[in-house]
Formats: sequence, C-alpha cells, structure tokens
Amino acid sequence: MDKLLEINDLTKQYSQGNVIARVTLTAVDHISFYIKPAEIFTLAGESGCGKTTTAKVIIGFEEATTGAILHNGKLQTRHEKPWITEGVQAIFQDPFSTFNPMRTVDSYFFETVQNYRLANSKQDAIDRIDKTLRLVGLTYKEFAGKYPNEFSGGQLQRISIARALVTNPKLIVADEPVSMVDASLRMSIVNLFKQLRDELGVSILYITHDLATAYYVSDRIAIMFRGNIVEMGTVEKVLMNPRHPYSRLLRDSIPQADPQKRWTSTVTLAELEHEEYLRRGCKFAGRCPDVMDICKGVVPADITVDDVLVKCHKYTDE
Ligand SMILES: Nc1ncnc2c1ncn2[C@@H]1O[C@H](COP(=O)(O)OP(=O)(O)OP(=O)(O)O)[C@@H](O)[C@H]1O
Ligand SMILES: [Mg+2]
Repeated sequence: MDKLLEINDLTKQYSQGNVIARVTLTAVDHISFYIKPAEIFTLAGESGCGKTTTAKVIIGFEEATTGAILHNGKLQTRHEKPWITEGVQAIFQDPFSTFNPMRTVDSYFFETVQNYRLANSKQDAIDRIDKTLRLVGLTYKEFAGKYPNEFSGGQLQRISIARALVTNPKLIVADEPVSMVDASLRMSIVNLFKQLRDELGVSILYITHDLATAYYVSDRIAIMFRGNIVEMGTVEKVLMNPRHPYSRLLRDSIPQADPQKRWTSTVTLAELEHEEYLRRGCKFAGRCPDVMDICKGVVPADITVDDVLVKCHKYTDE
C-alpha cells in the first residue's frame, strides 16, 4: 500500500517550568500512523493532547525527540524539510494571523510563485493564482490589491487554503482550520477538503476537536489523549462504535440537536493536564468509568479489534 506520510513511534518532549522546578512533558508519546494518497486523516482530541505538536513536527517547525517521519518513504531529516522538498503545506487556525494586515493578500501568492519558480511572467503568475483561487470559489479579480481586513474570516480561510494549493502539494496539514470560522461557513470549508481530495488527489491531515466535522469529512481518524493515540480506524467504526472509554466520552460531549442533552459531559479539565501527562499506566485511568487495577500501573498495548487500534486494557484478552 502507498503511504504518503508515515509516522513511526514519534515522541516529542518539552522541558517546562523554571530553573528551580523543571519538568519534562511528553507532549507526543510514541505515536505511529500513516496517511495514504487522497485520504483525509483526522487527529482529534481535547485541548493540550498533542495535536499541534504532532503537526509542527510533521511540517518541520519542531524537531522530533525520537521516532521517524517519512514522506513518500523518504526519511525527514533536519536538513530536508518537507514543505520545500515534498509538497507539504500547512493551514492554521487563525486566518487573520496568517496574513500581515499591512500587506495585500495577493503579495503572498506572488511571493510563493516566485519562491518556487512556478511562473515565467507576471501574466503567467496571475493565471496560476487565478486558477488556484477558483478551486476555493474565488477569483484573482475579486482579490487583487485587497488587504486581509477586506475579507471575512471564512473568505480569508479559503484564501489561505488557496495559498497552500499554489505549489500543488500532495499533503495539506490543517490545524483547527474551522474553529475560528463562523459555524455557518464551517461545512463549506470542510466540503472544500473533500473536493480537493476527490478532484486533485490531495491528502489532508485534519486536526480538530470538533467530531461533527471530523465525522463528516474524514476517511480515518485517530483519537489522541495526553500524547497517545488511544483509538484509530475508519471514521465510521471509531465514531459510531467507539471502543476506548475516552473516545466514548469525547463523542458523547458533542452538542446534541436536543437542547436538553447539550454538553452532557465536560471533557476539558485543564487542571488535570499535568497530572495526566505524568501518570504511569494508562493516562486516562483517573477519569475512566471502566478503570481496573492494571490501568493504574501498566501502559496498555495497542490492540487491534475489528481493524480498529485501541490502547486499552479492556481489550487485552479479546
Ligand atoms: N513550546 C512548548 N513548550 C513547552 N510545552 C509545550 C510547548 N508547546 C506545547 N506544549 C505543551 O504540550 C502539550 C500539547 O500541546 P499541543 O499544543 O500540541 O496541544 P493541542 O492538542 O494542539 O491543543 P489545542 O487543542 O489547545 O490546540 C500541552 O501540555 C502544551 O502545554
Ligand atoms: Mg493545537
């Protein structure tokens, strides 16, 4: 099977605190996954579980502590960064911070075309930019010479997607791309991801805490908790029949259409973050409704049940 991106046993540690009290936090803890060509793969989980850290290591903004990242089978090294060599582009949460308010948005596109030597003349560049903008429902004419504040958040996020597409990337890493976009426009952005996958064969690493859009857009999904992938498989299997107690909790915290059922559980417990990151055994043991003695001392193995990977002692004997 083709693997566009392969993450093997990746760990990223940060040193936190001051000189008196230094702690090492394992933000990403021995995770492995892969992304196929033309696939939307989602990393989901609550705030602070290590999603952005994973993305940063993949695009080369941060160095891995241990583990390997392969792009098309080629090992990523300190000197060979994927966004230059392998057509990986990134989109971030806040489109307004992607663009300098004092610069016209088209200048970013011309810069990218120039840096990657994608055009032979100004007209050639304009044609290329126009073609890319049309993929996201915009045109060169309606955007030329304008500043970021002349667009809505949704439009600007489309523009940042178009900017990522200028180089014809094979993989787009999208870190919370819709969380700052109006709810009414979110679906149009995630639909765009599907369109890019289907029409251009682009793969997307979609990072989100929003399981509703994740369910809608993903082919496969990995649920992260405190640096670990606790469950991974097709989105149908993982979200319709979650096996890990944490996946279940996360899914059940999606706001329901029925207002009576809204926010049935509170998942974000930031004060627990450090305690859980440093926990021996299963990091979810302190909150798990199904906790057993073994969970408090022994890290669960990755077990495959019905083609789904589950990191939970409940499934050890299946
Ligand atoms: N540069 C850093 N230095 C020290 N600790 C960091 C650094 N970046 C992230 N962390 C810590 O690593 C953990 C994972 O953070 P990360 O930003 O990857 O989470 P996330 O899943 O993206 O969260 P969110 O949903 O809030 O964006 C957190 O505990 C965070 O405080
Ligand atoms: Mg993040």
